[in-house]
Amino acid sequence: MPFPFTRLRRLRQSPVLRRMVRETALQADDLIEPFFVRPGRRTRRPIAAMPGCHQFSVDELVKEVALGRPLGIGAVLLFGIPERKDSVGSGAYAENGIVQESVRALKAADPRLVVMTDLCFCGYTDHGHCGILKKKGPKDWELDNDATLDLIRKTAVSQARAGADLIAPSGMMDGMVGVIRRALDEAGFQNTGIMAYSAKYASAFYGPFREAAESPPGFGDRASYQMDSANAQEALREVAEDVQEGADIVMVKPALAYLDVIRRVKEKFGVPVAAYNVSGEFAMVKAAAAKGWLDEDRSILEILTSFKRAGADLIITYHARAAARLLQKRDW
Ligand code: PBG
Repeated sequence: MPFPFTRLRRLRQSPVLRRMVRETALQADDLIEPFFVRPGRRTRRPIAAMPGCHQFSVDELVKEVALGRPLGIGAVLLFGIPERKDSVGSGAYAENGIVQESVRALKAADPRLVVMTDLCFCGYTDHGHCGILKKKGPKDWELDNDATLDLIRKTAVSQARAGADLIAPSGMMDGMVGVIRRALDEAGFQNTGIMAYSAKYASAFYGPFREAAESPPGFGDRASYQMDSANAQEALREVAEDVQEGADIVMVKPALAYLDVIRRVKEKFGVPVAAYNVSGEFAMVKAAAAKGWLDEDRSILEILTSFKRAGADLIITYHARAAARLLQKRDW
């Protein structure tokens, strides 16, 4: 037997020792909890493909968000389901739109809560795409990048006016961060931040979300605006653009299949990085746990910790409350 050899097992002998040398600390402050809001009162509709998640009316949303606060969760990300959809997604920038109303109610109930608002049009348009369509021929369509930027500007300002702390544009339009920064500054919202969905991939893992936000594309797919999953260099270019245009936080989405991208973004830019643990990643754990094939609690902590180990500072996750509860009770 070769001697001496390194005994790495020495520091794994007791729970206290293991915690002392742990390199990555997952904390409740890292977590951002997403919520889906719909019109109505006293309404909570379960989302079938996301067990434990619901669409809430604003009154129920306020109650539900409050439950995360004692667990240490300080931030939420809001998605709206409007009363009516139309070709230009006007529900997204209506002064009394569902997201705007939600922000006001949440801020009135708890001014210290950090409220982030998703800014996209797929849940608000009758065709389910993330902006304005340019028709080239009957079967031929294209998303009009620059026409969509006008709506993005309007929506950002209306969300900021309602009291959002950070605007989170998720439509993958080129130039979106720059136009938002400018519009916010011109409207006097210099302190409203931007969390950009910078490296957002065209992913199969958004499946359950499209039921939750009632936002599936009516035809075609999102491959002409979201990124190809094979590309990492391109993700760095997307992030570079967004940082240059004024993003305060950049995001990689999904997270689990893109840990390498998280790592590279963190190393190259050193800005706050958010990882979005998307609906399909959540649903996989829930489904396997329901069948008894995975230990749900351990899987959640292991997955969320991997995002931090890869370099993420913030984690957007439907497991937020479950994780925060586990972190509170994890004993020595
Ligand atoms: C809207 C949007 C999507 C998600 C967040 N914002 C869906 C999509 O792009 O199709 C997905 C989130 C999730 O799956 O949890 N553009």
